Amino acid sequence: MSGRIPREFIDELLVRVDIVDLIDSHVPLKKTGNNFVARCPFHVEKTPSFSVNRKKQFFHCFGCEASGNAISFLMDFSHLDFIEAVEDLAGFVGVEVPRVSTEYQPAQKKEDLNSLYLLMEQVAVFYAEQLRTSDAGKKAVEYLKNRGVSGDCANSFMIGYAPDEWKALETRFNPKLLLEAGLLVSNEEGRAYDRFRGRIMFPIRDKRARIVGFGGRVLDDSLPKYLNSPETPLFHKGKEVYGLYELLEKNAKPQRILIVEGYMDVIALAQCGINYAVAALGTAASQAHLDLLFRFSSELVFCFDGDKAGRAAAWRAMEPAFSSLKDGRQIRVMLLPQQHDPDSLVREEGVDGFIDRVQASETLSEYFFGHFSNELNLSEMEGRAQLVIKAKPYLEKLPDSVFKEMMFDRLKELSGLGRLDILDNTATLASKQNVKQVGKRSQDNSRLSSARMAVALLVQNPRLAELLDQRELDWSELGFPGVALFKSILSMIADNNSANTAVLVECYRGAAEEKSIKALALLDLPVPDAGIEAEFFDALDRLIIQDQEAVLARLLNKGKLDAEEKDLLRKTLAAKSLVQKNRNL
Ligand code: GTP
Ligand code: MN
Repeated sequence: MSGRIPREFIDELLVRVDIVDLIDSHVPLKKTGNNFVARCPFHVEKTPSFSVNRKKQFFHCFGCEASGNAISFLMDFSHLDFIEAVEDLAGFVGVEVPRVSTEYQPAQKKEDLNSLYLLMEQVAVFYAEQLRTSDAGKKAVEYLKNRGVSGDCANSFMIGYAPDEWKALETRFNPKLLLEAGLLVSNEEGRAYDRFRGRIMFPIRDKRARIVGFGGRVLDDSLPKYLNSPETPLFHKGKEVYGLYELLEKNAKPQRILIVEGYMDVIALAQCGINYAVAALGTAASQAHLDLLFRFSSELVFCFDGDKAGRAAAWRAMEPAFSSLKDGRQIRVMLLPQQHDPDSLVREEGVDGFIDRVQASETLSEYFFGHFSNELNLSEMEGRAQLVIKAKPYLEKLPDSVFKEMMFDRLKELSGLGRLDILDNTATLASKQNVKQVGKRSQDNSRLSSARMAVALLVQNPRLAELLDQRELDWSELGFPGVALFKSILSMIADNNSANTAVLVECYRGAAEEKSIKALALLDLPVPDAGIEAEFFDALDRLIIQDQEAVLARLLNKGKLDAEEKDLLRKTLAAKSLVQKNRNL
C-alpha cells in the first residue's frame, strides 16, 4: 500500500479515462450540445446546472461552482482522499496502481494488511461476545447500563469486553499478528501478554468499516482510565477519529459534525439521537482530522469540555482550524460550562438544550478575537500591538478567500492599524491581482482580452504548446498581463507532456495557481474547433506586437542610445517585421 504513485501514472490515467463515462456511472448524464448535463450531485437543485465536457475532461456546476477533473469528482462525490480517488479511478479503468517504494518506508504487502484487518475484526467479535456471554462481561453491561447506554447503541458501536486475563487472545489467535496489531505487549524478557485486560472495548473503525484500533476503559477508578491501541500499520492516531463510520451509517452527508473529546461523549450523544459527533483519539485535532471531516460536511463544531484543559485544547485547535478553512467551510467553537462534558451536559439539559447550545455556538471569528479581547487589554496601544503580533500568524494560515479578507479587516479594525500598510502586505495575492487587473482592464481592455484569450486557449488545448515551440520567441521582452502564468503553463506542459486540460489542471493541484488555472479551464470561449490555432496565434501576435511597440517607443523617445540599446532596437525591429510577415502569410 505504501510508496509513492508515479506522477506519469496519474497523468496517463486521466488520459485513459473518459470523465463522461465515469460521471455517468454515478450520476446519469444527458447530452446537450457539446456538454453532458445532470442535476448537480453536490447541491440540491431542480434544473440541471452540472455540466461535463468531454474535450476538456472537466466538470463544472454553474450553481455551486464545483469543478474539476475525474480525480476531483471522485474525491468530492465518494468522499475520498487523493490517493483513494486515484485507486478508485484505476479500478474504473481496470489497471493496477504502481508504487515507487521509498527508501525509509518498506512497502507493506497488501496481504499482510488484509490479515491484520481480518484479525482486528475477529478480536472485536470476540470482545463483543465476551460482553454478552461471560460472567465478567455482565459487570461491564451493568456499568454501561448505569451510564445510560442501551443494548442497541452498544451493538451499533460494537462495544465489547476484554476479559481480565493475560492470555485470552494469545490462546485464540495468531500471536505474531496480534503483536503486529498492537493487541499483545511484549515485556523485557520477550514474553507477550494481552494489552487490554478487564476493560470495556471500543473498536475504532475507519470510514470503510475496517477496524483499525481499539480504545479500552476500566470499569472503576483505576488508572490509566483509557488505554488506546499503539501506532500500528493500520492505526495512526493523528488520522483517525472515533465514531466516523457509525456517523456515516446514519447520515452520509450530515449538516454538521461535532468534534468532542471522549469516546463516551460520542456514545452518549448517539444514545440520545445526536449521531453526528466524533472524537479525536485523546490527541489534539489535527489538520488531517479536519480535512477528513470536511469531506463529509461543510460545518465542524469543536466541542470542548469546560475545564481548563478543554479551554487550552480549544485554543490549540486554532492552528489546524485556520489552515483547513477553505471557502465554503465553516468552523464553530462550543465551550461547555465548567464541570461538564457533552455526556454529562446532554443528561442534565436534555437533547433540545444541547442542540440549542450547538446552534448558539460561537463562530470561529467570534471565538478567535474574543480570546484576544479577554487576554489582552485592547484599550492600550501595547495590547493592540500584541494583538497584531499574535493574531497575524493565524490569519496568514487561512487559504485565500473572502473570509481571509474579512478576518484581516476585523484585525485592522480592532488594532486601529486600518490605515497602515503593515497589514496590507499580507493581503491575499488573489485580491491584489484582482485590483491590478481591474485597473489595467480600464486602461487597456483589448490587451487583457487578448491575453486572457491566449492563456485560456492554451489551458484548454495544451497541444498548442508544441506549435508555439516551433516559433522561436524571445520571452524576455514580453510583459503582457498574465505572462508569468502563461510561461508557467508552458513549462508545466513541457515537463509533464500534458495531453489534455484535465492532466494540466492536475499538475496544479494544491499550487497557488490552481484557482486561476481552473477558472481558465472553465471559460467558455467563442472559438470553433477549426479556428483554435489561428485564434491563439492571432491573440499572441497582438500581444507581442504591442510589447514590441512599447519597447520601440521607449527607445525612440530616448534620443541617444548606447550600444546595448542599439542592439535591442535592431533586434526588436527585426522581430516585429517577422511577426508581421507571419501574420500576412
Ligand atoms: P468517561 O466519561 O470518564 O468515561 O471518559 P470520557 O469519554 O469523558 O473521556 P475524558 O473526557 O476523560 O477523556 C477524553 C479522551 O481522552 C478519552 O476518550 C480518551 O481518548 C483520552 N483519555 C482519557 N484518559 C486517558 C488515559 O488515561 N490514557 C489515555 N491514553 N487516554 C486517555
Ligand atoms: Mn465523560
